[in-house]
Amino acid sequence: MTKIASPVGTADPISKHTQIITAIVETRAASRAARRAGQRVGVVPTMGALHEGHLSLVRTAKTQSDFVIVTIFVNPLQFGPKEDLSKYPRMFERDCALLEKEGAEVIFAPSVEEMYPGGAVTYVNVEGLSDRLDGVSRPGHFRGVTTVVSKLFHITEPDKAFFGQKDAAQVAIIKRMVRDLDMPVEIVVCPIVREPDGLAMSSRNAYLNETQRQQGLVLSRALRRVEELFHRGESDVRSLVADGREVFRTEPEVRLDYLSIVDPDSLEPVDDAGPGALVAVAAYVGATRLIDNLILAK
Ligand code: PAJ
Repeated sequence: MTKIASPVGTADPISKHTQIITAIVETRAASRAARRAGQRVGVVPTMGALHEGHLSLVRTAKTQSDFVIVTIFVNPLQFGPKEDLSKYPRMFERDCALLEKEGAEVIFAPSVEEMYPGGAVTYVNVEGLSDRLDGVSRPGHFRGVTTVVSKLFHITEPDKAFFGQKDAAQVAIIKRMVRDLDMPVEIVVCPIVREPDGLAMSSRNAYLNETQRQQGLVLSRALRRVEELFHRGESDVRSLVADGREVFRTEPEVRLDYLSIVDPDSLEPVDDAGPGALVAVAAYVGATRLIDNLILAK
């Protein structure tokens, strides 16, 4: 790994090592140098504490671009005042080693001061969508996400940006932002990576003890139940949701936040479920908020 603490323009687009860059100007210079060398630039935004879900995005980015920038930034703007910003898992050295193995060209890991000098007063907000699903119990969360992702796009100037289906609402909101603001980037959505028992991988799974880890399986179980009923011919959203909720009765200690069937682009509820509808769920296991989803297939 090469740590860059050098003047602008020294980031080398043909270096075989992963370069760790903390400065915005140097990251932009590295991206532009790669582009000048004829390379396609891909970005994978993350908050670190990387797992196989994140790494699957990096692998896809490697196949679809020549110069992959992975960003690691725990973005204070997307955490509510009572949320887990201070205890969010941070394992930078380990993340860097994993990304070096995957062959990422650059790790952009700015400080909060670098990203928000003097604090943040300018925001990007996708109205409407940002108040649905997770936006209901996490007011301001998606405004924080769209603001930081806009900044990351301006800094890295990618051809493609890679996001996980795991955060389905985030995907819908970012796609809408890119469309509305004519951002010249293609959004590539990658499938959810799960543990062998079905739990969707998440950096927040690290908060769970053994009992909670088992309780957390109720999210994917409820989704599978909805999917199963849909395949048996049920399309009435109210009955599908009622049956999904029923599964949560098996884990009384898990507090359901929402289980909804919505249009995957507008995030608006649908009455009749059809192929392509998004079944999304969020629940608290202890103090840990987990999310999961699936898209109904034919
Ligand atoms: P973070 O939670 O670190 O996730 C980074 C990316 O990894 C997101 O696109 C997320 O959907 C994807 N991801 C997480 N778990 C996954 C899984 N099990 N399978 C597939 N992909 C998965 O999402 C964020 O960070 C932030 O909101 C960010 C976009 C970086 C803005 O701060």
